[in-house]
Amino acid sequence: MKIIVLRLFALLLLPIAALQAGEIAVSSLDLSLAANSSGWPARANLSTSGKPILLGGKVFPNGLGSHTKFRLLIDCHGTAKRFTAKVGVDDVANKQYASVIFRIEGDGKKLLMSPVMRPGDDPLPVDVDLTGIKQLVLLAWNGEGGGQADDHANWADATIIFDGKAPATLASAEPRKILTPPTPPTPRINGPVVIGTRPGNPFLFYVPVTGERPLKVTVGGLPKGLSLDESSGIITGTTLAAGTYDVKLTATNARGSATRELRIVAGDTLALTPPMGWNSWNCFASKVTRDDILRQANSMATNGLRDHGYAYINIDDFWMPKNEDIDPTLHGPERDANGRINSNARFPDMPGLTASIHKLGLKAGIYSSPGPKTCGGCISSWRHEKQDAERFAEWGFDYLKYDWCSYNQVVSGNYEDKAYAKKPYMVMGEHLRHQKRDIVYSLCQYGMAKVWEWGDEVGGNTWRTTHDIGDSWDSMSKIGFSQAGHEPFVKPGCWNDPDMMIAGWVWGRFTNLSDDEQYTHVSLWSLLSAPLLLGCDLTHVDDFTLNLLGNDEVIEVNQDPLGRMAGRIATRGETQVWAKAMSDGSLAVGLFNLGDEAVPVSTTWNELKLKGPQRVRDLWRQQDIGVQEDGFTTHIPRHGCVLIRVSSSK
Ligand code: GAL
Repeated sequence: MKIIVLRLFALLLLPIAALQAGEIAVSSLDLSLAANSSGWPARANLSTSGKPILLGGKVFPNGLGSHTKFRLLIDCHGTAKRFTAKVGVDDVANKQYASVIFRIEGDGKKLLMSPVMRPGDDPLPVDVDLTGIKQLVLLAWNGEGGGQADDHANWADATIIFDGKAPATLASAEPRKILTPPTPPTPRINGPVVIGTRPGNPFLFYVPVTGERPLKVTVGGLPKGLSLDESSGIITGTTLAAGTYDVKLTATNARGSATRELRIVAGDTLALTPPMGWNSWNCFASKVTRDDILRQANSMATNGLRDHGYAYINIDDFWMPKNEDIDPTLHGPERDANGRINSNARFPDMPGLTASIHKLGLKAGIYSSPGPKTCGGCISSWRHEKQDAERFAEWGFDYLKYDWCSYNQVVSGNYEDKAYAKKPYMVMGEHLRHQKRDIVYSLCQYGMAKVWEWGDEVGGNTWRTTHDIGDSWDSMSKIGFSQAGHEPFVKPGCWNDPDMMIAGWVWGRFTNLSDDEQYTHVSLWSLLSAPLLLGCDLTHVDDFTLNLLGNDEVIEVNQDPLGRMAGRIATRGETQVWAKAMSDGSLAVGLFNLGDEAVPVSTTWNELKLKGPQRVRDLWRQQDIGVQEDGFTTHIPRHGCVLIRVSSSK
C-alpha cells in the first residue's frame, strides 16, 4: 500500500517537479510540426498509441511519444546547454516487429545514435552537449528488419536545458529542400526530342511547354497526315509513310518565344526515350476506379507536370473482374460471348475513359498477365492473348504492362531458363505489333532469366529488373544502385525498369524517403534512363514534390535521345559516382552519398575519361558552378546527391 501511494505521489509530482528554470520539456512544444511518415501521431506525455510511456517496465509520465520515421526540428538559437532524455521502444509494442534507432543531430552533424532498440530494453539515458547548436533535430528511424510496424519510439523526460531563460519559440516546421528555381515565365519546350511511331497508326503528342499563359504553339514541317490543334497544343493524325521527320516547334507568349526540333521517326520502334507518366499501383493499388484515373489525368494536365513531359496515365491491376472477391465492384462477366475480356464494374466504359485521357493530350496504359490471373487475382490473358491485344487496341490503350504473376501455375519451368521466361512475352509482343495502334510494351517479371539480355527480342520497350519497390531508403537504394552492369542493353526503345517512382504522396501518406533521398531517387532514375512513372497521387502534390518532379534539366538527362544508361564509375567508402553520356557530348554525373553522415564526394576528369578543364553545371539548382581544372568535389548530406552536367570548356 505504502509503495503504491508513493508511486502515485511520484507520478503526480514528476511532471511539475522535474523542470527547473531554463529547462523546457520537449513535450510542451508544438509536436504537430514534426515530420512523421507513419500516420501515427507524436504525442505529449503519452506513447504514440495514446497509452502511458512504458520503458523497461517503468511508466514515465513526462516525455514524447513518436513513431518511425520521426523528425522534429527544434530551434535552440545557440543558447541551449544540454538535451537529456531516456529513449526506448515502448514495452507494449510487438517484440517481433518493433525496432528503432534514435538519432540526435545538431546543425546537421550527428550528436548521438543509439543502437537498435527493441521493446523491453532498458531505456537508454541520453545527455547531449548542445553548446553553440542552433538547430537540434530528434530522429527516430526504423531499426533493422521488420519494417516500420509497431515502432513506438519514446523519448521519456526529454528536456532541453538552457543557459538562463529559454527562448520563446522553439519548434519549427522543417524547411523543405526546394532546390530548383521556379519555372520561368518565358516559354520553354520540354519533354522528348524524338518520338517513335509506326506508320499508319494513330499519332498523339501534346507539346509540353512551360511559361506564362496564354501561350501559342506552332509547328513547322509536320509530315503529311499530322496536324496541330493550336488551341490545345496537341498534334494528332497518322504518319502515312515510314521515315524521319524533323519538325520545328515554336512556343510564344507575352514574354518571348522558344523553338525546338522534334524528330518524329515513323518506323518500328516505340519509346525512343524512356516513357514518362503515372501508374496507379503505388497510389491506389487494389482500390483503383475510373474516377481515380480521370482525376489523376486531369491533375497531370493542370498541375504542370504534363508541361514537363509526363504523358502516360497507366491503370495497373484491378480494372478487370475478380468474382471471388467480396468487393462487388470487382464483379462482372469475365469475357463476353466471343471471349473478349471485360472490365469490372469500376470501369464501365473503357473507350470513354481513354478518349477522356487522349483529349488532354495524354496517353492511356493498361495491365494484364500472361497467366490466368493477375498478381491481385483478377482475370487475365492466358489463352486469350490475341483477343486481349485486340481489345486493348480497340479500347484505345497506348501502353501495356504485362506482369508474369500466375503464368508459372499453368506452364511449369525453370525461372532462369531463358526460353521458358521469354515464351509468354514473345506471344503478346507479336500480337501487340500487329495492332493498328502504337502500344508501348512493358515487361514485368522482376528480372528473371536476365530479362535485360532478351527483352528487346520479344518486342519489349521496358523491362522490370527487380521485385517491387517500397518507399524506404533501403528498398530504393538497393534497387537503384544495383542496376550497374545493365548498361549494354539500354538503347532507344529498350529501357531497364527499376520500378515506379515512390516520391511524393504514395499509398495515402507522404513517402518515407527524406528530401535528400528523393533527390537521389529522381537523379538515379534519370541517369539510369529508367521510365519515369510516378507513383504518387497527382491530386495531392505539394510544392516540394512538384519542384522535384518538374526540373527540366534533370528530365533532360532522363530523356536524352542518345539513349545511354549511366554506369558506375567509382565507389569510395559509402560514396558512388555514376556517369551518363549525353547526345551533345557532355556527361551527366551523379555524386551520391549512401552513408549516414555528410561527407565530401569527389570525381576527377581523369576517372570520367575527360581531358582538360571542364565546365560544370548543377542540374538541381540549375546553376553554373564554373570551369574546374581536374575534377569536382562537393559536400553531400546523408543519402543525398549532387547531379551535375560536365562539358568541355573549349
Ligand atoms: C506486382 C507488380 C506490381 C503491381 C502488382 C499488381 O507483381 O510487380 O508492380 O503491378 O503486381 O498486382
